[in-house]
Amino acid sequence: MKIPPYKDRIIYQIYPLSFKDSNNDGIGDINGIISELPYLKSLGIGIIWLSPIYDSPMHDNGYDIRDYYKINPMFGTMDDFDNLLKKANELDIKIVMDLVINHTSNEHKWFKEALSNPNSKYRNYYIFEKGKNGKVPNNWQSAFSGTCWEKVPNEDDMYYMHLYTKEQPDLNYKNEEVIKEVENILEFYLKKGVYGFRCDVINQIYKTSLKNGKFRLFGRGKEYYESQPMNHVILKRLQDEVIKKYGAFLVGETSNVTPEIGNIFLKNCELDMFFEFEHSFCDENKLLPILKKKFKPKNLIKPIFKWQESVPWLGVYLENHDQRRSVSRYGSDKYYKESAKALSVFLLSLKGTIFIYEGEEIGMTDYKNYSYEDLNDCASISTINTAMRLLHLSRDKVFKMINETINRDHARSPMQWDNTNNAGFNNGTKTWLKVNENYKDGINVKDELNDPNSILHFYKKMISFRNSSEALKFGEFNRVKSNKNVAKFIRKFNDSTLLIIVNLSSKNIKDKDVVDKNILINTESNILNGELKPYQAIIREID
Ligand code: GLC
Ligand code: CA
Repeated sequence: MKIPPYKDRIIYQIYPLSFKDSNNDGIGDINGIISELPYLKSLGIGIIWLSPIYDSPMHDNGYDIRDYYKINPMFGTMDDFDNLLKKANELDIKIVMDLVINHTSNEHKWFKEALSNPNSKYRNYYIFEKGKNGKVPNNWQSAFSGTCWEKVPNEDDMYYMHLYTKEQPDLNYKNEEVIKEVENILEFYLKKGVYGFRCDVINQIYKTSLKNGKFRLFGRGKEYYESQPMNHVILKRLQDEVIKKYGAFLVGETSNVTPEIGNIFLKNCELDMFFEFEHSFCDENKLLPILKKKFKPKNLIKPIFKWQESVPWLGVYLENHDQRRSVSRYGSDKYYKESAKALSVFLLSLKGTIFIYEGEEIGMTDYKNYSYEDLNDCASISTINTAMRLLHLSRDKVFKMINETINRDHARSPMQWDNTNNAGFNNGTKTWLKVNENYKDGINVKDELNDPNSILHFYKKMISFRNSSEALKFGEFNRVKSNKNVAKFIRKFNDSTLLIIVNLSSKNIKDKDVVDKNILINTESNILNGELKPYQAIIREID
C-alpha cells in the first residue's frame, strides 16, 4: 500500500506576516520563509501550510483576496514564490496553500464590476438581494458579529452578503461560472507544483436558501449555509475535475462539523481530512464565545477523544492563526515548560495529520501587556463594537474580555528567533504587530537551541519519535480510563503498542501504569513509580 505524504508527514503552518522579515519593512515575507527552510527541515516537518499570500488589501490579513493570480507585493513576487517551491522541493518539503473561495475582497475586479455595473455578468458572481420591509434581506449574522448584509451604495434597497467582514463579499456557488473560476485557480497553482490546499470555511460556500435563521446569539442563519447537501456536490466536482488529476491534497476548515458530516467528506473523498473545532471551544462560553469559561483538562480531553473515535482520519491541532496560544490556554504559568512539553506529547501522539503552528514549538505565549491601541484583528474590533452597542459595556471592559477569549492577535505576533532587537524577526525599526517581549526571557529559537532542556528540543525529539513510529502515525486509537485530568490512550499498529499518559494538571496524580519499564518518551528526567508529577507525560511500549 502506498502511503500518501499527508499521512506520513507533519504539517507546519506559517502565518507569512509574522514568520520572518527579510527586508526590514516590518512585514514577514517569502524570502524570509526561504531563509528558514533549513530550520523547518531540522524540526522534522514535511509539509508547510502557508496562510494566504495572494494580492490583498489585508482587511482580514489576506483572507480577503483581490487577485488570486498575483502574489501580495508585501510578501514578494511570483518569482519569489516559484523560488520557494523550488527550494522547499530540494529539501523534500511540500507546500500547501490557503484556498479562500467563500468570498473575495471587495476590491476584487469581479466585485468592483458587479457594483459599478448591475447588468454585468459579475453581478451573479456574488449574492445580491433586495431588502425586506425597508430592512436587510434576512436575520443572518456575520461570523465577526452584526448583520451579514451591506447596503449597495447608490442603489435603492439593495444589499450584498458577507459572512465575514463587509470587505469580504460572499461568492455565489449557484453560479456555474464561479465554480469554473475556482477550478482555474486550483489548476494554476497545482501546475506550479503546489501539493494541495487548506480550504478556508469550506463548508459554508453554498447557501441553500435565504430564509430567516432560527434565533441564536451567534451564527444565526447557519442551518441554511453550513454543510449543505450541495456543498458536498461542489467539493466532489472540484475533486473530479481538478484535484484528482494532480493527486493533490485538501484539508477543510469546517466549522460546527459533526462526525456524521465529517464522515461524508471522507467517504466521498471530497476532502482528505478536515478540522473540527469542538475542542477549541473548551474554555469559551458556547453561546457567547467572548465570555471565558474556566479551563478544565477534561473539557479538552473529552472532545479530542470523541473525534479520535468518530472518524478514521482528521487534521489535529492545538493552535492556528485564529486561536490563542495553547500553552496560555491549556498550560500553566507556574509549570510553563512542563505544560508545553505535556501538550506536545498529547498533540503528537494523536491519530491523524498533526499541524504545528509557527512558534508553538518554542512555547510562544499570549501577550501580557497589550492594549486596545495595539489591536489589529478585524474580528476582535468588530466584536468589540457590537458588544459595546448591544451590551452597553465600556470598550475597556470588552477589550479585556476578548483578550482572554477570541482575540486572534495573540497567535499572530512575530516569530521569536533570537534575543536581539525585535526577537530576530527582522533587523529594522518596526514590526507590523508588536513583538511579545518575553523573547528576552529565553522564549526564542536560538536560546532554546542552546538549552538541552528547552521546549524546542523536546518538540524536536517528539517529532522525530512520531516520524519513526508506525503506531503513532498509522495505529488505531483507544482511550484508557484514568483520572479526569489525565489523557491516557493506546496507539496500536501491528506488533507495536504504545501507551500514552499525559497529566494536564499541576497536581501529582497516581497511575498504576506509571512504572519505569519500556519508557520511550518522558517529559521529566525520572519516573516516580506509580505517580505522575505536574504536567508529566510519558510514552511506554507495552505488550
Ligand atoms: C477562516 C480563517 C480566518 C478568516 C476567515 C475568513 O476562519 O482561518 O482567519 O478570518 O476564515 O476568511
Ligand atoms: Ca518584509
